[in-house]
Amino acid sequence: MQRVIPITSPLFVPETSLKACGAPEMLFAHQQPLAMEIGCGIGDFITALAAQTPQWNFLAVDIYNQGCIKTCRRLTEAALENVRVLRMEARALLTSYFDEASIAAFYINCPDPWPKKRHHYRRLVNAEFLRIARYFLVHGGEMFFCTDFESYADEVEQLPQMPGLEFLGRTAATPAEYPHSKYMRRFLEKGLPIHFFHYRKSDDGARYERPQLAPGFRRPRTRTEETSCG
Ligand SMILES: C[S@@+](CC[C@H](N)C(=O)[O-])C[C@H]1O[C@@H](n2cnc3c(N)ncnc32)[C@H](O)[C@@H]1O
Repeated sequence: MQRVIPITSPLFVPETSLKACGAPEMLFAHQQPLAMEIGCGIGDFITALAAQTPQWNFLAVDIYNQGCIKTCRRLTEAALENVRVLRMEARALLTSYFDEASIAAFYINCPDPWPKKRHHYRRLVNAEFLRIARYFLVHGGEMFFCTDFESYADEVEQLPQMPGLEFLGRTAATPAEYPHSKYMRRFLEKGLPIHFFHYRKSDDGARYERPQLAPGFRRPRTRTEETSCG
């Protein structure tokens, strides 16, 4: 296991600072829609997206220390001020610090595929996660998820339709303006397909209960958490 190097970039927000600031939007100088990338890896996707969308703020979230360091470095090199980086488990972060209908979009690119069948339960995108996304998205807010793993894509496509979260489709390619992450590039360069999913929060008039993590929730450790995926 690698040692965890302290992250000193001003773009990095330790959990203590998030707690102290009162509300996540207070982390930004300009109040504008807030989107979140879950599992930002080395930060190439969020750097490109934030550069092309200056009218939004972004949170780049990952549990991987080296990835957060590399993300901060990329954002600093690009002189972007509309992104903050958090090293936290995404579901714990959302359920602990965010209000209902506070996220304009979620981006989840090539999450850990957990290829062995007995590990599929560890996959991030599942029915429970869709309920979390539905609760925290603003009305009309979108969720984008892509994976190179067909079995992951099939599993997500087969999830029951959820009122209030419209499934807009699965395609074999990403939209032209959608930046490519490191993992996406890796698979596309090999000529492998990327399965791309698009959801939208719709106003069905229902009130949903705030999602809670099960008592004793322990996020699964991932291979990339301490070791390098950069
Ligand atoms: C396979 S890598 C993909 C990285 C990047 N999205 C890309 O496409 O290049 C998956 C990333 O998700 C992070 N991750 C996995 N589970 C997570 C969770 N529950 N919360 C936050 N980050 C997570 C891992 O640490 C890793 O950096």
